[in-house]
Amino acid sequence: MRTLTGIPETQHACIEARRNGRRIGLVPTMGALHDGHLSLVRSARSQCDFVVVSIFVNPLQFGPNEDLARYPRPFDRDRQLLESEKVDLLFAPDAPSVYPEGATTFVDVEGPTAVLEGAKRPGHFRGVTTVVSKLFHIVQPDFAFFGQKDAQQAAIITKMARDLDFPLQVVVCPIVREKDGLAMSSRNAYLSPEQRKQATVLYRALSRMQTLADSGERNSSALIDAGCQVIAEEPAVSLDYLAVVDTETLQPIDDVSHGALIPIAAYVGSTRLIDNIQLHGVGEAHRLVR
Ligand code: PAF
Repeated sequence: MRTLTGIPETQHACIEARRNGRRIGLVPTMGALHDGHLSLVRSARSQCDFVVVSIFVNPLQFGPNEDLARYPRPFDRDRQLLESEKVDLLFAPDAPSVYPEGATTFVDVEGPTAVLEGAKRPGHFRGVTTVVSKLFHIVQPDFAFFGQKDAQQAAIITKMARDLDFPLQVVVCPIVREKDGLAMSSRNAYLSPEQRKQATVLYRALSRMQTLADSGERNSSALIDAGCQVIAEEPAVSLDYLAVVDTETLQPIDDVSHGALIPIAAYVGSTRLIDNIQLHGVGEAHRLVR
């Protein structure tokens, strides 16, 4: 595995790979890798001949009161993990190379960025879509891999790639969960052992909603009430939002007959966690992604 920090060198290595007829897969990450990231890398490995993973803790997507400074950065461990997954190229730029002084161009996706995480974290998605566009330009992948855990991010990036005619396919991979259902996240590292147990209530709430929908409940409010009741059983967890939305526009819907995304965000102590499930429309196979 080559490790490169420079943008021109990375562009050159990717152009060279393409010239040699290799199909390029990109897995953008902020490091602190866990099995969720590694499942993206494995998907990329199985579908592509040249796998590029980026590690960049993107300052542009953190708000002023968010965890940029304390975001975990176990770089050597990450590099070893990627090496053992047979990644071809690790791209790990620093912030001044990605955002040189005077850079004032940003990518803004209107619509689905205004709700849910976008409403709670102003500017967050502008930071995500700007850095992901830059990575798309630098690497020029055929496939780019993102996790369903950040469902809103995946929907926004899919839309951005379509709207801006990026010649690549966005692949969204299923959420990877711990045995007790907690969705894997780099931010789980902030949780104390007690908070780690409390955090499983997010998945219990989603599972309860899934069970209700499977048994025929179509009404979004009824589903949300049931989910909120489960969250209330864990007083240490404070709900930020629980919603039933359209899978593409992310706008709230009243009825889940044609499928829905159910995103949740909650604080466990000062750690903000997100998770989601997707309900399939009537007639489609219902599936709880594990
Ligand atoms: O999901 C993430 O880790 C980040 O938002 C991403 C896509 C790497 C952009 O910084």
